Amino acid sequence: MFPDKNDTIIQVLEKRGVTRRDFLKMSVMLAGTLGLNYSSIGKVVQALETKSRVPVIWLEFQDCAGCTESITRSQNPTLTQLVLNDIALDYHETLMVAAGFQAESAKDSALEKYKGEYVLVVEGSIPLANPGYCTVAGKAPEDVLRNAADGAAAIIAVGNCATFGGLPKAKPNPTDAFAVMDVLTDKTVINLPGCPAIPEVMTNTIAYLLVEGKAPELDALNRPMMFYAQTLHDRCLRRGFYDAGLYAKSFNDEGYRKGYCLYKLGCKGPTTYNSCASLKWNQGTSWPVQSGHPCLGCSQPNFWDGGGFYEGQGAILQKPGLAALGGAALAGLVIGGGVSVANSREKERAKQTPEQSTSHEEKEE
Ligand code: SF4
Ligand code: F3S
Repeated sequence: MFPDKNDTIIQVLEKRGVTRRDFLKMSVMLAGTLGLNYSSIGKVVQALETKSRVPVIWLEFQDCAGCTESITRSQNPTLTQLVLNDIALDYHETLMVAAGFQAESAKDSALEKYKGEYVLVVEGSIPLANPGYCTVAGKAPEDVLRNAADGAAAIIAVGNCATFGGLPKAKPNPTDAFAVMDVLTDKTVINLPGCPAIPEVMTNTIAYLLVEGKAPELDALNRPMMFYAQTLHDRCLRRGFYDAGLYAKSFNDEGYRKGYCLYKLGCKGPTTYNSCASLKWNQGTSWPVQSGHPCLGCSQPNFWDGGGFYEGQGAILQKPGLAALGGAALAGLVIGGGVSVANSREKERAKQTPEQSTSHEEKEE
């Protein structure tokens, strides 16, 4: 059954069969991800019990729909279910069933019905070179965006294309692509960059708006501090190797096999702010550097034009000190040993037949 607009969050969840126990678990996880302390869990529970759901209208412009794909992979299924179902109910060009005139009329009625209350989520950059580019229903993208932004209670740009222009803005930028915040210069746009954005960053930012009723604290690039305050380098599991001056120099050398730092393979971790190292991807399974690939810097402005994914560097390579060579090398070897063991286990597992693989997992349990 679809929820009523006036239902509280708990009523929406109950209609979807979510138990009180799962609801409390979701509230605790939510409080933790939002960076609230233990005593704030009651506040989260109370907000979800008493507040109505937030209507969300999701527009796409010059994008690949990767952020839409990403949000369907959140590791908090209850929260995602809540956000996704409500997005689908209100307006989402990719996830909704309606098409053509029916879709346009669904959007117009959602914009009217929830005026002043909805969260506008924008995916993709805005082409300004020609009003005919990326036209939807005969309307120029800039007009579609401004019209939706006018009635929004909050505006969130998701993914590198919407936040900083992304791939469409890369040289030579044939469509004159703009970031949402550079078009809506008179409004506050909450930026959630990434290529794509991390699903929990999207769902939890919407949840934060719901719980707190205001935008989270933002950095100089309008990114929420709770998800973008630290570099990946600050939390990287290969950091001990970096401090010890031990680097992989190719994807097939001894250092790579031992799990050394990927800086010399172009890792942009030292200058990239995002939560990949803590929230990870695919329901907390891994993140690029853990899986053996340098960070490309996908949550930073202009990362496509940054001088080559495997060579360009914005960060100065620090020379290891004596302390780093001693203590950090030891720490690095322990961490790196873990990476190396995990990698060889994965390789072994990949070589096994499905039957062998099942029995291997059973043995580990
Ligand atoms: Fe930093 Fe990248 Fe090396 Fe990790 S792999 S320590 S993020 S440079
Ligand atoms: Fe992007 Fe780097 Fe994370 S490439 S997905 S910010 S590890």
